[in-house]
Amino acid sequence: MQVFVSNSYKETETFASGFSKNLKPGDVIAFEGSMGMGKTVFTRGIVKGLGGEDVVSSPTFALVNEYSTPVCPVYHFDMYRVTTYDDLYSTGFFDYLENGSILLIEWSENIYGALPENTVFVSIEKGDEENKRTITIRTMAEE
Ligand SMILES: Nc1ncnc2c1ncn2[C@@H]1O[C@H](COP(=O)(O)OP(=O)(O)O)[C@@H](O)[C@H]1O
Ligand SMILES: [Mg+2]
Repeated sequence: MQVFVSNSYKETETFASGFSKNLKPGDVIAFEGSMGMGKTVFTRGIVKGLGGEDVVSSPTFALVNEYSTPVCPVYHFDMYRVTTYDDLYSTGFFDYLENGSILLIEWSENIYGALPENTVFVSIEKGDEENKRTITIRTMAEE
């Protein structure tokens, strides 16, 4: 388990860029944390850290955004409205899981049972201060 306290969105982005250096094709990152915690900011840091130049925005309406990076494609999911296996299937989740990409999943709580064993959890919580976030990283084994 690793804990990082961030004091600004920039710090979160920079931390996520550093974190991305350990990622490889096939990795799955499951975010936990409510609206406005910084899950999309963290995703932006990862894509930048991997050398991607695409603009990262919330996939809320599309359910999944694809970004290309020199390492591999990155798929960024928003599972907020995904509640059934059929919903999940239609996002392409199971296909992307098998094709050597990195998967980043917002609202992963909704698809917990479908997450593979190599999933790494990134949970983001807010403290009393507006711009402060506690970011906790742990593996499935540490659940
Ligand atoms: N320390 C911080 N880390 C990340 N975001 C922060 C931080 N402090 C303030 N923010 C703000 O919180 C918001 C997070 O938005 P976003 O990443 O879209 O959240 P989420 O995807 O979790 O709903 C942004 O407006 C960002 O500027
Ligand atoms: Mg988001």
